[in-house]
Amino acid sequence: MQADDRLIAALDFHTIEDVEKLVETLGDSVSYYKVGMELFYSAGPQVITYLKRQNKNIFLDLKLHDIPNTVAEGLCSLMGLGADIVNVHASGGFTMMKTAAERLHAAAEARGVRCPKIIAVTILTSINEDDWRGLGMQCEIREQVVRLAKLAKEAGLDGVVASPQEAAAIRKACGTDFLIITPGVRPAGAAINDQSRIATPAAALKNGATHLVVGRPIRAADDPRAASEAIIKEMESVK
Ligand code: C5P
Repeated sequence: MQADDRLIAALDFHTIEDVEKLVETLGDSVSYYKVGMELFYSAGPQVITYLKRQNKNIFLDLKLHDIPNTVAEGLCSLMGLGADIVNVHASGGFTMMKTAAERLHAAAEARGVRCPKIIAVTILTSINEDDWRGLGMQCEIREQVVRLAKLAKEAGLDGVVASPQEAAAIRKACGTDFLIITPGVRPAGAAINDQSRIATPAAALKNGATHLVVGRPIRAADDPRAASEAIIKEMESVK
């Protein structure tokens, strides 16, 4: 089965050997991979080099969150690796996001390389109502997600990471030309794990998601390739 670029498989492993095993198993069925902190902190840049050699697209999900200068320079350091998407936490604020986007674009132009898409994490998909109230938040999660998405757009970012349950509201607020990447995707009957605000692959796309991040439902399946193909089949039905 041909890959669907809208599916991003999360490589939440500690070793490059585990990555190679899964990428080989999934073969042509997956063209986009997400490298997060668990893998990048232990395996480092070699994992990006490996994925690029396999002609895969890469979402480098390191969720930078610091003062504007540190985030902007951190992203400029990461740009050399050649990931297709990088990200920051929207809760770092408008100035941080704007500085990051401007400096990343300027650095790409100066180096003559393609600038990666830069997106912002709104509210983690694992956050439930209790976590939310525990943070002292008074408004609804959805309201804050939309506020952060609009802020990210205004700051010049290319899109956001959000729950599939919030994708429709973000699409309405931010228009068509905006990436909405949704983790928290669970095929019907799959284990929910530590996620909270979830939806099925088809529902996520119908809500306006542009890309789905799927980790454990593929990685921990008895047959990961069959699991990825079943998800692609469900996604194709929404095209
Ligand atoms: O295994 P599962 O499908 O829950 O994996 C989801 C992936 O998406 C994990 O790598 C997690 O770090 C990431 N993620 C998330 N929620 C966000 C941003 C990223 O679950 N808001």
